[in-house]
Amino acid sequence: MESEGLKLLKTRRSIRSFEDRPIEDEILTEIFEACRYCMSAVNRQPWEFYVIRNKELIKKIAAECTTGPFAAGAPVLVVLVGDKEIQPNWYVQDLSFISLQLALAAWTFGIGTCWIGRINRDTVKEILGLKEKDHVLTVLPLGYPKGEIPDPRPRKNLKEFVKYLD
Ligand SMILES: Cc1cc2nc3c(=O)[nH]c(=O)nc-3n(C[C@H](O)[C@H](O)[C@H](O)COP(=O)(O)O)c2cc1C
Repeated sequence: MESEGLKLLKTRRSIRSFEDRPIEDEILTEIFEACRYCMSAVNRQPWEFYVIRNKELIKKIAAECTTGPFAAGAPVLVVLVGDKEIQPNWYVQDLSFISLQLALAAWTFGIGTCWIGRINRDTVKEILGLKEKDHVLTVLPLGYPKGEIPDPRPRKNLKEFVKYLD
């Protein structure tokens, strides 16, 4: 029998279209609370979340998301920022892990997100008044999915990537 945890991992999808419906404060807090438990190198936790709900600012940031213009339609954007001073060696990994933690925590509430790769990071930094030491890893739009949840994308089968060496 499949555990709830495995079901969560297997049913999550990238969501690029969102209902025009706010995310409840308590739910947002629960999602962020779950992020506190993310792994990080030497437990330095070199992250900050900039949470944006102002529609004008959402539009402004979304306009800098080259491969994620759909962020404009989300009720919440979370800009994930890594502190290169706190963790110069592993901030990318740490921030990547917490992005997944956030995505999975959100999914438990039926809230979707999508990683955005191409972003004008310097401009986003400027808009948010961030410092030199800050690295914008990604912008995660959060919202209740609009329409059908997408089918799973094609996946490699185990034989293609699991190599037993015994
Ligand atoms: C590092 C990374 C960068 C990504 N960049 C984008 C992006 O710029 N725009 C986008 O629409 N999706 C982006 N995605 C989402 C992937 O396309 C998606 O995760 C993949 O197709 C698998 O689909 P699934 O997340 O629904 O399982 C990115 C995902 C990752 C992990």
